[in-house]
This record gives sequence, structure tokens and C-alpha cells, in this order.
Amino acid sequence: MQANELREQYQKFFEARGHKRIRSAPLLPENDPTVLFTTAGMHPLVPFLLGEPHPLGRRLVNAQKCLRTDDIDEVGDASHLTFFEMLGNWSLGDYFKTESLAWSYEFLTQVLALDPVRLAVTVFAGDTDAPRDDDTAGIWQRLGIPDERIYFLPKKDNWWGPAGATGPCGPDSEIFYDTGKPGHPGCAPGCACGKWFEIWNNVFMEYNKTADGRFIKLSQQNVDTGMGVDRTAAVLQGFDDVFRVETLAPLIARVEELARKKYADDPKPFRVIADHLRAATFAIADGAMPSNVEAGYVVRRLIRRAVRYANALGIAHNFCADFSGIVVAMFASAYPELEQNRAHIADELDREESKFKATLERGLREYHKVAELTRDLGANEIAAPDAFNLFETFGFPLSLTIELAREQGLSVDEAGFDALYRAHQEISRRGSEQKFKGGLADHAEQTTRLHTATHLLHQALRAVLGASVRQMGSNITAERLRFDFAYAEKLTPEQIAQIENIVNQQIENDLPVSIAVMSLDQAIKSGALAFFGEKYGDQVKVYSMGSFSKEVCGGPHVQRTGELGHFKIAKQESVGQGARRVRAVLDPKTG
Ligand code: ALA
Repeated sequence: MQANELREQYQKFFEARGHKRIRSAPLLPENDPTVLFTTAGMHPLVPFLLGEPHPLGRRLVNAQKCLRTDDIDEVGDASHLTFFEMLGNWSLGDYFKTESLAWSYEFLTQVLALDPVRLAVTVFAGDTDAPRDDDTAGIWQRLGIPDERIYFLPKKDNWWGPAGATGPCGPDSEIFYDTGKPGHPGCAPGCACGKWFEIWNNVFMEYNKTADGRFIKLSQQNVDTGMGVDRTAAVLQGFDDVFRVETLAPLIARVEELARKKYADDPKPFRVIADHLRAATFAIADGAMPSNVEAGYVVRRLIRRAVRYANALGIAHNFCADFSGIVVAMFASAYPELEQNRAHIADELDREESKFKATLERGLREYHKVAELTRDLGANEIAAPDAFNLFETFGFPLSLTIELAREQGLSVDEAGFDALYRAHQEISRRGSEQKFKGGLADHAEQTTRLHTATHLLHQALRAVLGASVRQMGSNITAERLRFDFAYAEKLTPEQIAQIENIVNQQIENDLPVSIAVMSLDQAIKSGALAFFGEKYGDQVKVYSMGSFSKEVCGGPHVQRTGELGHFKIAKQESVGQGARRVRAVLDPKTG
């Protein structure tokens, strides 16, 4: 079965069991400054796992784009990926272990027709935070998994979450497929020898990890599951290598063509190039741009790493844009945003590739000089100023210098580099403040204003369209705000005018913006709205704009609504079933 069909079958299976299909959230989390990328399907659902009602009910299913860069250096083996799609089904305080495990088993053995004899499962062994999960083991037994295929493992293996420092989490049960390889003597699922292929994880999220490290029972019992598309497709297609699946194989084939080398002879560079450019293509489609900070830095690092490996394979011409075209073609039907951004993605990749290539060779020469000098001095650590020079003059991300150094048994003074980097940032920040003194609004100030306007808009939408309007997503640039919400119909010109009037009235009222810190429970009880994409800790910030609006939010906001300027809705559109999007701008205050 191919990935496209797997994605569809999975969602259909759960739709037939009362689940509503939701769109993949973007790879760049909206309204959540604490993480760079969406790393799991549950991530955008955190508020709902904590108890906020979801507009589509208690059973959800989707295919979520995920990017995990923790083990970017692991990419190169047969199964590690940075970007992947996660199929997931959720119970938001609805069904629990019995149904979830039975459906997993049914889907695997009936729909995917996997041989039940090949399945093995792991179950949480229990510790001082939570008891041994005998319920789950009992359910597996009743479904037909024999005792010797049920492994009890500790928290490091069988506990999932929270996605950040705090939030929903719980014991999990992972389902593995036995590849039939002999494996290590006595090896159990989770062992990296290649015998066991993890395909699905059922997490029983009934705990909330608090900032002080305690695990408190949530008010509801949730299920959060995750199945990797490429991995499961590999199993279904009889491969023990995800790069053989049609979601990656065309990229591998293209590298073979360009390099005139065989994948099978030395797969690592092929895998790095395929994985990284697929990831970069998806990230750029969702708004990331190669840069030296945050998500942009990750994208830059992915592209540059791919280009360096291609360079080592002897690929001389720019190839990244062409690769993004292959990715777009492979995924266009499932992720229309790729097609919509096709030209932009190709441009960004090509620009970054050219930029990097211009300095790569000179940089590599410089790096080898530095490494030689380091060794001549009897040292095994590359000094911070050298690493910084490679960064500033030759565009080498620190990670690239570290990787090159590691290949030669050297390390890099990372702390020293950080100090130089921060000093450099400070200088350029001062530089840009000078530039903006002429009256141009600073980027940060404008996004802060738009953020406050977003709260006013949210409340105005509820006032005009009804309190069932729910935020589904929000995205802010220096130019405009974008707000997605659950509402089935097109807004009439009258409704738009009414909404604009309400927001502008509240701006004119010059409401004070105040902030209070409280528990999420208290916040919700006090009538604060709490939505999508926020990662809630033990204590949350609640922003109030006079008595007009009250929302749980990380901020920042302006001090008074009078600072906002004139609010105007620029555009509305539909973003799928039951969801609408508006874009709005703030015109500078006149007079
Ligand atoms: N959130 C769980 C995972 O990522 C399902 O494995």
C-alpha cells in the first residue's frame, strides 16, 4: 500500500468510528513562541487535551506534518527523518484504552492486513509517578497478543510528553513490527538493531506535568496516537528502509542520476539530501525562510547540510529547486500549500544554495587551515574566534563546523562562539534601531499591535457571529494579521463592517491592557478564552482589554488599545469545511 492510500485509509477508518477529520496544522506553530516546529499531531491540540472543548467534538483524526530536529545528525540510517507525517486519532476525554487499542489492532490486522504474529507491544512498567499499566496489558492479551510479546518498559521508553516542559502526557503503548531479522540476543522492542520497527504509539494522556515536575491527573482521560506514514508504508511494502518508499525514493533516484553513483554503495549522503530537502520544502511552504535565527536557522542548516553532502558526491550544479519540485509533485494532493507556494519555495532554495555555494569551497579551505593549525598547536578544540569567522565570513552555521570537526576528532568552543554571536547580534540590533529612528515602525512594535488587534477581532467576531466562533489559528507578520476560526458561512459585507466598527470603537475607547497570572482552571472559570496552539503551563497569563476581551495568551501586547491605529479587514476566505480566514491590517494613526 502506498503512502497516499495509507493516509486516506487511516482517516476513513476513524471517520467511520465517529472521528472528525482536521487539517494538518502548519509546521510553524501559530501563537506559540516556545517551540520552533510542530513535532507531533497532539501539539496543536494541547488546549483541548487540557479540557477546552474542541469545535468539532471529542473525536478527531488527521495527518499532521511534523519536523523534529533533535536528531538531525542521526539522519543517514534507514529510519531517521527530520520531516515526517504523523497519522493520529484523538479522544478528548471520550473513549480510552479499550477502544483505542482495539481500533489500532483492527486497523493493523484487518485494513493493513499485517500478520498479527509479527506484532509486539510495549506497556508502561510503572514508577512513583504513575502505576504499572496492567489495564493496557490486559486489553492486549484479550485482543490476542501473547504474553511473551508484551514488554513492560520504564518511563524513558513508555511515557510520552509533554511536548514542551509542561503539559499533557501519560503512559503509552507502542506497537512494533517484527522484521524477522535475528536481532540482538534478548533484544526487546526499542532496541536499535533493526529487528523491531516501531509503527504506532497510543498515548493515554491523563496527566499534566507541572512546572515543578509533578504529574497531576487531568480532569479528563485523553487518547493521543501517532503513526509514522513513511515507516508504516515501508513495512507494508516490505522494505526495511524508509528511503525506498515512494515518498522519498524519487529523491534518492534523482541524487543517483546527478551524482552518477549508486545509493546502495553508500546510502548516507543520499538520505541526508533527500530528507533535508523534503523538510526544507515543507518548512518554506509554511512560511520559514533561511536565516540565522530560530526556525529560519534550522531551514538554513538543512539546506546547507544537503548542499555540502551533494558537493561531496560531486554534484556541481544547483539542484535544490529541482528537488523541491519533486517533493511538491509527490505531496501536492495531500498538502495543497506546496503547490500554492511552488515558485517561492524553488526561489528560496535556489537563492540559499547559491549563497552557500559561493563560499562553501573557500570556507572548506579556511576550515581545513584552522583545523590543521589547531592540531599543530596540540589542541583538540577549534577556538571560538575561528568558528565565528567561519560563520560570519563564510556562512558556515556553527553546526556545520561542529560536524566537520567531529569527523576529524575535534570539538568546537561552542560557549565561546555563543558569546561572540550574542555580542554580534547586539551590535546589529543597535544598527537597525538607528535605521528605524527615521520613523519607520519597528517590526516588533507592529506585530505587537497586530497581536492586540487579534484579541479585539476575536471578541468582535463572537459578538457579531455568536459565541460559538472559535479561534483555530492565528499568524502575524509586520504587515497583517491572519485569523482562522470555526464558522461555516461567508461573512456578509454588513457583518464585516459591524466587526470593523466594534474593533475600531474599542481602539477609540483606548482600553487599558492588563495582565494577570493564574492557573488555567481559574482562567477558564474567570471567563478567559483559551485556544489553539498555546502551550499551557501550570500558571498562565491572562490578558484583558478593559472588560471587552479576556484571553489566555503569552503576549506581548500594547499597553492601551489606543495605540493600534485604524483596523480594517482586508480579505476573507474559506479554509476548508466549517472554517474561515480573515486577514486584517492596522493603518497608522493619522493626525
Ligand atoms: N504524541 C505521540 C508521539 O509523538 C503519539 O509519538
